[in-house]
Amino acid sequence: MSIIGKKIVTSYFETKQVNNIKTRIMNNIDWKNLPFGYMKTDYNVRCYYRDGKWGKIETSSSEEISIHMAATCLHYGQEAFEGLKAFRCKDGKIRIFRLEENAARLQSTCRGIMMPELPTELFREMCIQVIKMNERFLPPYGEGASLYLRPLLIGTGAQVGVKPANEYLFMIFVTPVGPYFKGGFMANPYVITRKYDRSAPLGTGVYKVGGNYAASLRAHTEACAGGQYACEFYLDAKEKKYIDEAGAANFFGIKNDTYITPESTSILPSITNKSLMQLAQDMGMKVERRPIAIEELATFEEAGACGTAAVISPIERVDDPEMGTSYNFGKEPGPWSKKLYERLRGIQLGECEDVHNWNTVID
Ligand code: PLP
Ligand code: COI
Repeated sequence: MSIIGKKIVTSYFETKQVNNIKTRIMNNIDWKNLPFGYMKTDYNVRCYYRDGKWGKIETSSSEEISIHMAATCLHYGQEAFEGLKAFRCKDGKIRIFRLEENAARLQSTCRGIMMPELPTELFREMCIQVIKMNERFLPPYGEGASLYLRPLLIGTGAQVGVKPANEYLFMIFVTPVGPYFKGGFMANPYVITRKYDRSAPLGTGVYKVGGNYAASLRAHTEACAGGQYACEFYLDAKEKKYIDEAGAANFFGIKNDTYITPESTSILPSITNKSLMQLAQDMGMKVERRPIAIEELATFEEAGACGTAAVISPIERVDDPEMGTSYNFGKEPGPWSKKLYERLRGIQLGECEDVHNWNTVID
């Protein structure tokens, strides 16, 4: 008798294990080799803001949306997005990592670009619903993949003058993903981009708005063009003296048992970085959040990029071609990076105790 055909399962855990195996067979997805990309899933969830209030949650199986041609998201970039992950865990349960933090950052972005704030409870309900409806796309435990949730909030109301819309659409779609950078937890080379800035010191860099990513496309494309680098590396826009961040990830350096990460008004406050600062402290490291001058790169024993998509991506070296310098951290992930990575993944996958109560567990 095959496992799928098995009728009697005695425990919840066994049920989930059977579901894991069913998922693997039914979808015919090569979970181990998933890229970080879009895959069509069954449903997305949507909620409209009209007449000054949020409506009911709607579900849709369409990949398309229909909006007014004068919608503010199209002309004036009034849009925000988020990124968070759900994991099938060792105990068969599903865990969503730091959902409240993503809701809070979205609310901060809403304040930043004049959109109505989405209540945390609505965000939570929609995350859980979209995961449950697409459960067959949740990668099985142990495959190194996860279900990426992409919440998106757009101004849909028509305006021609530059002002906020009076109608909005919030939606979440999901897609199963593998590692963002080549090889996953493997060191990659990065290159400093001096020609372009991603965001200004008092601009929108601290918000997760599409315009920041539009501003990064040219820098990213040029940095990766020769196939030599994984990602571009930004300096502060004002003085070009300090490290800002690495493409779609924050930067951290490690020396003398100290975790050091930039303080800057033009980088996204990364939830992964915030978590790593806490874990570093839990592990007995010192933590410093302060401006990091470029030359200080030469003093780090380890360096990494971190983010929801990137998790921890160790940095092999950072080249600064215009200055003719190169900062090397080695081809192998360093010992602290390894420990931090394992603890973070352990919590996300339900293998380590979630002492800070970061996960939302779906039974
Ligand atoms: N910085 C940028 C520009 C990003 O796009 C991301 C990704 O979300 C991060 C940093 C990492 O943030 P988080 O850890 O919240 O995903
Ligand atoms: C994430 O890590 O969730 C991001 O948003 C990165 C993404 C822009 C690819």
